[in-house]
Amino acid sequence: MDYKKLADQAKKAKGMSYSPYSKFRVGAALLTQDGKVYRGANVENASYGLTMCAERTAAFAAKIAGENDFSAIAIASDSKDFIPPCGACRQVLLELCGKELDVIITNGNDEQKVFKVKDLIPFSFGDEQLNKS
Ligand code: THU
Repeated sequence: MDYKKLADQAKKAKGMSYSPYSKFRVGAALLTQDGKVYRGANVENASYGLTMCAERTAAFAAKIAGENDFSAIAIASDSKDFIPPCGACRQVLLELCGKELDVIITNGNDEQKVFKVKDLIPFSFGDEQLNKS
């Protein structure tokens, strides 16, 4: 699937957002290597800190469906600006989706920027640090 189509899926996923507090809707579409798409959207809570981002709802849904091989995630919002993933999402995407994952960031003009997740979170903490004796 091309990244334009994946970005369209992220835009659609924005419609599932539950964001009554920030009114900032975010959608994500996570593509597996065999072509499946898992969608996510941000889900907020009156206890604000319990909010979950769009990228992580997509990654968690895919993970519990048994997916392990991913190629890209697209992220869309209502902003005219490019909206990059937050730090927590970068950390989770790195671990669940792999350092070579393409992260497609979009803006209100349907333009895209593509980054490798490993470049968005350099010198990261991961399981390599935990498994040393
Ligand atoms: N948000 C995401 O869904 N993804 C990000 O990477 C950044 C922020 C959401 C969380 C919250 O519901 C709203 O955007 C405003 O921060």
